[in-house]
Amino acid sequence: MDVKLSDIKVLFTEEQIQNRIKEIAHEMNEFYTGEEVCAICVLKGAVMFAVDLVKELDMPLQMEFIRLSSYGSSTTTSGKVNAVDIKLPDLNGKNVLIIEDIVDTGLTAKFLLDFIGCNFKTKSTKFASLLDKKIFRQTDIEPDFMGFHVDDKFLIGYGLDYDGYYRNLKFIGYADKSLLE
Ligand code: IMP
Ligand code: MG
Repeated sequence: MDVKLSDIKVLFTEEQIQNRIKEIAHEMNEFYTGEEVCAICVLKGAVMFAVDLVKELDMPLQMEFIRLSSYGSSTTTSGKVNAVDIKLPDLNGKNVLIIEDIVDTGLTAKFLLDFIGCNFKTKSTKFASLLDKKIFRQTDIEPDFMGFHVDDKFLIGYGLDYDGYYRNLKFIGYADKSLLE
């Protein structure tokens, strides 16, 4: 791995992330009062966010996991979403809450919202993303629940990887562009 841990600068600390997640969860608890929710975690990137978020939710909740990929080992999207594993139960009549790490171009979000829209008549479908990177957006997707706006940096940590590494960091950081291929 050519990017060392010491090369990664902190953008959001563990404390900032956890505080913001509690705020988002509070919004969701108010929004879904009395309703059941089926949360769909988009692996691998959203794993940390999803796990920490659902622990703060107080409604009857089911959790599903799907795996999509668009980046491969590069730091820019290939533009094509690959549904590595998209097996889902019957979502008809359910409140579906998609949980993502980051919306960048929005192609992944659009793919998933179209997939759910084509296959199920849900009671509601909402999209939550910890991070919102608007600068390269190619769709009109806006997350319904969102943690932080970010600029054009390639982010690493707390689920977000650089070439498969550093998902385990408790913080979200970035490395200088010159270090990234
Ligand atoms: P989109 O399809 O371009 O919106 O990208 C969505 C996916 O690309 C996210 O779910 C992430 O897994 C990945 N991604 C986008 N930006 C970053 C980043 O800055 N660091 C790591 N992964 C990213
Ligand atoms: Mg992702």
